[in-house]
Amino acid sequence: MDEHRPVRLDHQQPGCQWQVGLEPTLVIHAAPGYDKSHGRNLTESGRGVIIASRLWPPQSLGSSDRLSDMAHDFVTVGVIGLGTMGAGIVEVFARNGLDVVAVEVSPEAVEKGQAVLRHSTDRAVSRGKLTEQEQTELHARVRCTTDLADLAECDFVIEAVPEQLDLKRDVFAQLDQIVKPEAILATNTSSLSATEISVATEHPRRVVGMHFFNPPTVQKLVEVVRTVVTEDAVIEDVKALTERLGKMPVVIGDKAGFIANALLFGYLNHAVDMYESRYATREDIDAAMQLGCGLPMGPLALMDLIGLDTAYEILDTMYKQGRDRLHAPSPIIKQMVTGGLKGRKTGRGFYTYDEAGSSKVVPDNLTPLEGGAHEGGLRTVRTVGVVGSGTMATGIIEVFAKAGYDVTYVARSEAKVDAVKVALAKSLEKAVQRGKLTDADRNAVAGRLTGTTALEDLAQVDLVVEAVVEDLKVKQALFENLDEICKPGAILATTTSSLPVIECAVMTKRPQDVVGMHFFNPAPIMKLVEVVHTVSTADDVVATTQDLCRKIGKHPVTCGDRAGFIVNALLFPYLNDAVKMLEAHYASADEIDTAMKMGCAYPMGPFELLDAVGLDVSLAIQRELYLEFRERGFAPAPLLEHLVTARYLGRKAGRGFRTYP
Ligand SMILES: NC(=O)c1ccc[n+]([C@@H]2O[C@H](COP(=O)([O-])OP(=O)(O)OC[C@H]3O[C@@H](n4cnc5c(N)ncnc54)[C@H](O)[C@@H]3O)[C@@H](O)[C@H]2O)c1
Repeated sequence: MDEHRPVRLDHQQPGCQWQVGLEPTLVIHAAPGYDKSHGRNLTESGRGVIIASRLWPPQSLGSSDRLSDMAHDFVTVGVIGLGTMGAGIVEVFARNGLDVVAVEVSPEAVEKGQAVLRHSTDRAVSRGKLTEQEQTELHARVRCTTDLADLAECDFVIEAVPEQLDLKRDVFAQLDQIVKPEAILATNTSSLSATEISVATEHPRRVVGMHFFNPPTVQKLVEVVRTVVTEDAVIEDVKALTERLGKMPVVIGDKAGFIANALLFGYLNHAVDMYESRYATREDIDAAMQLGCGLPMGPLALMDLIGLDTAYEILDTMYKQGRDRLHAPSPIIKQMVTGGLKGRKTGRGFYTYDEAGSSKVVPDNLTPLEGGAHEGGLRTVRTVGVVGSGTMATGIIEVFAKAGYDVTYVARSEAKVDAVKVALAKSLEKAVQRGKLTDADRNAVAGRLTGTTALEDLAQVDLVVEAVVEDLKVKQALFENLDEICKPGAILATTTSSLPVIECAVMTKRPQDVVGMHFFNPAPIMKLVEVVHTVSTADDVVATTQDLCRKIGKHPVTCGDRAGFIVNALLFPYLNDAVKMLEAHYASADEIDTAMKMGCAYPMGPFELLDAVGLDVSLAIQRELYLEFRERGFAPAPLLEHLVTARYLGRKAGRGFRTYP
């Protein structure tokens, strides 16, 4: 994480303060009324705080009500349910020296869970992460059963049964009668109320949420969920246990989705909507988020990993609690679950896998043809024009020239032409010094470049990419000029990240030749290009642009002409949601950043990313999305607006959500 000093922002209301970026401890106290939706949905969502107000704060419990004051030293733990999560959780415990009693519903389910455990430890052995001796010992520590009564000796039991409130309450009610009075009971629920589950027992104070992330053997974060009645000693014990497992605990209040899922699932649902509306293919949606944001998996592949049935239940619970339409499960999820397409666990979800439980994707009828063949033939592109002299234009010029294209670039003045020349020479020199380019190559690349101030010099190029200022009027005037200058059949591309491509296309008499080519910054490094077709773009122009992207070493993803295209439309609402979560005092910026990095393996937390992108840029994109989709949930977070007004624009201003030296 970046070094930072805390920024303190005082809210105008007396007694209400927020602190951005300062977090000495990863503990948040949840109090009734802290989430406005608590109580409102008491009966229908099953997430109400039923006994909260009477018993808050937990410290007020009488001493006779307390569990043992001694810290627990766990020896034997129980895990209920050996599905996607349970099998992994068993492995985590057993790897860390704990004896585990694992309970499933039937001998077949036990066998399935054991097979998953065996497969996972075999892989660890083959990768040298576990010795055969350690593997044997690990398996010897795990005892599987179909009888809940076998948990009687456990000091700690966690359930990982399906995400259904009644089922979990039933399991806890039974468990309460089986285990010792001082044993701790944990739920791995992702979204259901730990409070609701806890009151199915006679001792809700010993119940806690312990939310592992998928896969539990890999992801470091564990959200430890404190209900209003969970005893402090229980929280301390579970924190210590989490640390003993080599994981990082974050203690939070009982709210649907906690930190990570509350931010993740709106984004996943939105990606499913994009897929369902055929805005882009599953492969393109996933590649866009991996290559554009550096995420470890695309959203649809992640849905398959999580399990569509589980994802449905999580979204449904979140929707019922917050009434945010963006959490209403996309209809196709329910259809797929009903049809048995639950993701990896059934061998089919958004993708098809070689067998149930496998991670290996196999081709199916939706798999695109290799290389994106186009029946109508492609246009010839040998020479390229680039208009602009900023960061993006300079990067794009370099990309084309390195790929062997003659590039004519147009800047507004001789000084700007020279500045581009110098910047390119510097970048190429760096490549030579790093051994990525030979001297001869560098000279060849430089030889392909021609700088000019005359747009007319683009008369004979096969493709023009414009990367001038993000101002519609400027771009429209440019397209009007290009239409007059360029030869018939030339492709005219804009690299706009937020303006409608069609607004540029209609300025020409050849809208069929106009396409979006959205490069990412820095263009020479980022692999992704969003190829944006308007309602007028000709098929061969799209196919030629896709082909060209591959030739210049980029990965094209194709989508329609909507605000945000794929990446920004999925990314910025998630960032905005993180700001709203901070503003609602549910968690600090550090906790939220940590949760997304440690729970979902994101390369950066949302606040690190917002500060890097710039808060003004982020706000502008979020506003575009809001205006285009008229989606209430896309309205920019007031805190983001205030920070921009205060000119706290992020790293570039030395101050954003954090302060930089
Ligand atoms: N899938 C994820 O990515 C993920 C991540 C974190 C938390 N969770 C949470 O973990 C829990 C389990 O989810 P999952 O994805 O592993 O589900 P899953 O459907 O893959 O597995 C659930 C398992 O529980 C078993 N089961 C059902 N009733 C049982 C009972 N009464 N006693 C014993 N076993 C029983 C089932 O046979 C099944 O094997 C849910 O609360 C879910 O929200 C899931």
